[in-house]
Amino acid sequence: MLKLGVNVDHVATLREARYRGSTTGEPDPVDAALECEDAGANGVTIHLREDRRHIQDRDVRRMRTSIKTRLNLELANIPEIVAIAIGTRPDVVCIVPENRAEITTEGGLDVSGQVESIAAMRKRFTDSGIDVSLFVDPDLRQIEASSETGAQFVELHTGAFADAFNRKSDLGLEIDRLAAAANLAHKLGLRVNAGHGLNYSNLQLLHQVPYLVELNIGHSIICRAITVGIRKAVEEMLLLMGGYTG
Ligand code: PXP
Repeated sequence: MLKLGVNVDHVATLREARYRGSTTGEPDPVDAALECEDAGANGVTIHLREDRRHIQDRDVRRMRTSIKTRLNLELANIPEIVAIAIGTRPDVVCIVPENRAEITTEGGLDVSGQVESIAAMRKRFTDSGIDVSLFVDPDLRQIEASSETGAQFVELHTGAFADAFNRKSDLGLEIDRLAAAANLAHKLGLRVNAGHGLNYSNLQLLHQVPYLVELNIGHSIICRAITVGIRKAVEEMLLLMGGYTG
């Protein structure tokens, strides 16, 4: 069964739009995460960014003690954030590149250019009992390098696929790239997640990509929640994911 991890960063984005600098305020990403779990989500994803633009340190602590499914903490290789992650013990960390000027995570991590430092970070997490996922473009060189680091998972960046879907161009090419990356990752013993830009319209096409374990979806679910509520938004996404045969 294909699993769904809901990224609730944008619940915190909405809170920070009004309550930045305060330790209280609504909406609460932890409440939202609990609703997602009740609706059947298999995990919750949050990204603690260096600039703390949405998720705050206290959210990470509260999320860890509140949710009952898996906590996936996204982070960049920044010593302060790595230390917080090790102290909080999420079930899995997803290592992403971070750029202060970006609106959201833009590209995949350049693993092939920094295998040794990522392998060292991966070992620190493994020693703390935390699984590691690397957020990479569907590029065979990056998949091979990811395997060399000893990471347990890769998360395939589906942003180019989502863009191609919107432009109605190169879609077959992007699906082929994702499928080739998933095949190689599986062959090398990596487990395969995917995420970024997935929504209620493009999800069905992703069924053509083999070996997917979990999808991490944020923006589209939180947007849909504004009109139908977060439970229904999650249920609708799970319905679209049903029938995936891998
Ligand atoms: N996976 C990763 C690694 C991400 O950085 C993001 C964006 O925060 C997502 C998944 C979710 O992307 P979206 O919000 O477009 O669904």
